[in-house]
Amino acid sequence: MYIPGHLALAAHLVTTSLLYAQPAAANVEKTIFIAPRLEPVPAESPVIDDLGLQRLSPEEFKLRTNLNASFPTQQLPDGTESWFFLEDLNPGQRYEVRVCWLATQPTAFTLDTYSLGEAMSSPAILSSLAKYSETLLASAPSKSSVKASNDKDYLYPPKSRRQPNSPRVKLDPRNTKDLLRDALTSISEVESVLFLRILAAADYYTANSTLMESVQPVKADIILDPFLLNVFPRSLVPTVIYALPVAVLVYFIGAYIAKTLSIAITTAGDDSSNKKEVKKDQ
Ligand SMILES: *[C@@H]1O[C@H](CO)[C@@H](O)[C@H](O)[C@H]1NC(C)=O
Ligand SMILES: *[C@@H]1O[C@H](CO)[C@@H](O)[C@H](O)[C@H]1NC(C)=O
Repeated sequence: MYIPGHLALAAHLVTTSLLYAQPAAANVEKTIFIAPRLEPVPAESPVIDDLGLQRLSPEEFKLRTNLNASFPTQQLPDGTESWFFLEDLNPGQRYEVRVCWLATQPTAFTLDTYSLGEAMSSPAILSSLAKYSETLLASAPSKSSVKASNDKDYLYPPKSRRQPNSPRVKLDPRNTKDLLRDALTSISEVESVLFLRILAAADYYTANSTLMESVQPVKADIILDPFLLNVFPRSLVPTVIYALPVAVLVYFIGAYIAKTLSIAITTAGDDSSNKKEVKKDQ
């Protein structure tokens, strides 16, 4: 029996290369969710702008940022939290949000999404959101958004809900929560939006005492990826386009090998039956 060596080798190389077709990314953690139905969003009120959260939408789908992390404690078993705002979602569509980070910063991430309704009805979420927003605004006024728009990976400036001449609301740390609740109840526009919470817990042990005392912020990419036909992530499409001709080629090579094998087996069968007949004659 003879299988052309170069064909077998080609089939092997092709299947092996398919395994590595996915980019060898760093670590990835993700959450998959269905975009909520349209909800009233406070369009007139600039409070969502004033929260200072970084945003993601299907058009502005990638964000490079630094996420604060900490070692797990009794109060914060999943580490430090960061909040983001997902907007312009397509109601009922499946999406995934991924966090990608370097293996040199071992971190355990936990991702959750909350609708406006859930945020509004949960005092715990409201206060955690308010606390994060206050920290953001206190560290430097809209420092995060300035940084984001300077970053060349951030392709589009965030959409502003603020009317050009409306004054910026002064957020008082004591009443952010009330302001937020008021804003969320003032109905003016419907949109499919979500709050995204990312918890980051440091996941390493090192002899370097500096690194054991204070955890470095984790440099991460946050990517919002819609699923095409609610089946597979949009970002996988280039891989599929690349893999398809290869799959077709592999199919035909496989068919050829199978045919060669069956011919070989049939021939071998014929040979042995011929021999038997020869024996009988003798
Ligand atoms: C992140 O950590 C730094 C240093 O501890 C702190 O100054 C900053 O306010 C934190 N940022 C947020 C959003 O919590
Ligand atoms: C500990 O880590 C910090 C931050 O990476 C670094 O600057 C410092 O040199 C390290 N110290 C030692 C003793 O390796």
